Amino acid sequence: MTDVRHFLAIPDFTREEILRTLELAARMKRGGYRERPLEGKTLAMIFTKSSTRTRVSFEVGTYQLGGHALFLSSRDIQLGRGEPLRDTARVLSRFVDGVMIRTFDHSDPEELARYGSVPVINGLTDLLHPCQIMADLLTVRESVGPELQGMRVAWVGDGNNMANSWLNAAYRLGFELRLAVPPGYEPDAAILERARGAAPIVLTHDPREAVEGADVVNTDVWASMGQEEEAAARARDFAGFLVDEALMETASARSIFLHCLPAHRGEEVTESVLEGPRSRVWDEAENRLHVQKAIMARLMGGVE
Ligand code: CP
Ligand code: NVA
Repeated sequence: MTDVRHFLAIPDFTREEILRTLELAARMKRGGYRERPLEGKTLAMIFTKSSTRTRVSFEVGTYQLGGHALFLSSRDIQLGRGEPLRDTARVLSRFVDGVMIRTFDHSDPEELARYGSVPVINGLTDLLHPCQIMADLLTVRESVGPELQGMRVAWVGDGNNMANSWLNAAYRLGFELRLAVPPGYEPDAAILERARGAAPIVLTHDPREAVEGADVVNTDVWASMGQEEEAAARARDFAGFLVDEALMETASARSIFLHCLPAHRGEEVTESVLEGPRSRVWDEAENRLHVQKAIMARLMGGVE
């Protein structure tokens, strides 16, 4: 029996595997990919948080590769009534060929992977959002060029699941990452330290220092899912972290703006930047489909 591979975090793939997955995703996006590596296979999708992009792109992607996706809201399955995750993992593994989970605690996908016997894909936890970063890397490749190693990426806002996953991408690929966060909103300390050992990482409280000369400017909501009650306090703490045209002017001439969406216009980003010529947010959203198809083809369909 071959080892079951999971995708819970960007470093679950080597640098070469990341680049090969992006290449496969780009090939799928160009069209002409007629293979059906998920023929007869089923993906279970567990959601304990809301989703538009993740749900739709995984479901459509599975279908396009010949398979079938099951939407399992925690409100509807026994997990929501307290059935242990380790039991859910073993039962689902008897029925399906892969599990994607979006949830709060990062230990949940880890537990699914430990107790189940099929590939597990992280569709967002409080700690990480690796599929989104794969889509972002594909978007960057399309707009800035394939030399991901030589680029400078800026992160402006919360040191959240997205920021942590960008750090993981820098750790694997070695590009420069400059993060500007308000005091007290730093990314995960262990993920930061590991990335610092492998890539030029700058952590600052000054958005201009992060964005100056950057090829990619990223932000995200100030209050993530599960932090709704902190929204007012966070809005105060994040004053000065709005990505507006004046800030974008300090980025490199070829710079693009990314946001994983959903966005709060006028809060973390202005309408004019989100809808402006540097914005690639709609390509970024579409690219979720292509990268996740490539990830599923590798993990569930035996594609190299
Ligand atoms: N970016 C993202 O993960 O979007 P959804 O929450 O809509 O899935
Ligand atoms: N940081 C956000 C990303 C949403 C896709 C959240 O976790 O809610």
